[in-house]
Amino acid sequence: MKKIVVLVSGRGSNMIALLDACVRDACGERRWNAQVTAVVSDRAEAPACGLARERGVPLEVVSARAFSDRSSFDHALGERLSALDPDLVVLAGFMRILSPELVSRYQHRMLNIHPSLLPAFAGLHTHRRALASGTRIHGATVHYVSADLDAGPIIAQAALPVRDDEDETGLAARVLAAEHRILPRAVGWHLEGRLRVEGARVRLDSPRPDEEQWVWVP
Ligand code: GRF
Repeated sequence: MKKIVVLVSGRGSNMIALLDACVRDACGERRWNAQVTAVVSDRAEAPACGLARERGVPLEVVSARAFSDRSSFDHALGERLSALDPDLVVLAGFMRILSPELVSRYQHRMLNIHPSLLPAFAGLHTHRRALASGTRIHGATVHYVSADLDAGPIIAQAALPVRDDEDETGLAARVLAAEHRILPRAVGWHLEGRLRVEGARVRLDSPRPDEEQWVWVP
């Protein structure tokens, strides 16, 4: 059974999407031979912590506030991760930048979900920036984490048209729904060992006709 550790900082909706994808199907079969063995939060007060408890998933808090600088937080987080020994680390709304050293330890074993069509709008406030830019298409990206912020090899993307009448909140809600579709899909492919990283590109082995590395959300 593969071990997934999910890192969170906030609301936890992507974490829930992942937990839902891990549960047994109607026939009692496990969808994946994997389990979320722990959720780790950098904020004790994050709503995701309560949700993880409700779901009975072991929760660990490595509070960023308890550390005076970034490198000591990173060190503590790295120690916790080593102890949990995950096969895959998923950053699901984890709002901290990890050190290159920690990232390299989980090279091609650490995924992030980002609310834009990367490489556009890396960083924060992606929906506001997308609206301000006048782009007609926005979306979300799942990628392997690399040392550069929001720049690792792209596994899956969801694209959606920006509506003339929508504001930041409306656009964010539609993108979030799209995130919940592509994150479990990308994690599933990774767990099945079907992703091959070739430089900046990630190839999916033997895709079925219904499996594209992008989805269009009208
Ligand atoms: C998501 O939009 C994710 O892409 C971004 O932070 C947000 C987290 O939302 N990195 P949630 O905590 O998963 O609900």
